Amino acid sequence: MSQRKKIIAGNWKMHKSISEAQLFIEELTPKVKETKHQVWLAVPFTCLRAVADLAMGSDIVIGAQNISEHPQGAYTGEISAVMAHDAGAEFTLIGHSERRQHFGESDLAVNAKIKRALSEGLRPLVCFGETLTDRQNNQTQIVVERQLIAILSDLKVEELSKLTLAYEPIWAIGSGLVASVEQAVEVHSFCRSLMVQQFGREAAEVVPILYGGSVNATNAAGLLYHKEIDGVLVGSASLAVESFSNIVNFQNMQLQKIASAH
Ligand code: PGA
Repeated sequence: MSQRKKIIAGNWKMHKSISEAQLFIEELTPKVKETKHQVWLAVPFTCLRAVADLAMGSDIVIGAQNISEHPQGAYTGEISAVMAHDAGAEFTLIGHSERRQHFGESDLAVNAKIKRALSEGLRPLVCFGETLTDRQNNQTQIVVERQLIAILSDLKVEELSKLTLAYEPIWAIGSGLVASVEQAVEVHSFCRSLMVQQFGREAAEVVPILYGGSVNATNAAGLLYHKEIDGVLVGSASLAVESFSNIVNFQNMQLQKIASAH
């Protein structure tokens, strides 16, 4: 098993003005400077440049939350991969369930966006996951396999090293119902085996698979200590410096807990 670095990624969704975002980065930077994990933040387009400038030279990696599948053209209101990259994004979320649910993003569009991101030098962080009904009907693996086939369609073996996946069960997002470590690990292992079948073990082993859905400073450590969970994608708990930095520093938090119990 290759040694993949843990990634703690925040997703601010439609939150924060430019000044709020700048203050967040200023406060976060000293709190995470000792970490050996990767710290990623997917921010609104409007604050990409301001936040990327502030994060420059720190270990915080800034990304967008979506891009257009088109290179440019008459697509009013859309932002291209080139524009996001130019504004300071190093990665972009793709296929978040809120995009799929509210904006009708299909598996086909998700695949097109992944290819667009890769061709413009943006690392895709691609989300997928089942609904509560899928899980209750024992359809989790079928749904996840369908999504993963679309995500990976026509990707070249060498492109896998740029790809990051995030398993986000829809029932866990914003609900306070975090998946158990066992539930997450079962899906992560299944995804890894699908990638091994398609691309071979060596290429498949480099792709980090994060877990997302109601991750907070209390439940993060349990997930992050498991070797099949390469990181977490955090929504609401990434909005405050305190909770987000506590997730990044999950190992210190555990030590403090053990110390205070004695
Ligand atoms: P949540 O969101 O942490 O608020 O559940 C996760 C996500 O949507 O990426």
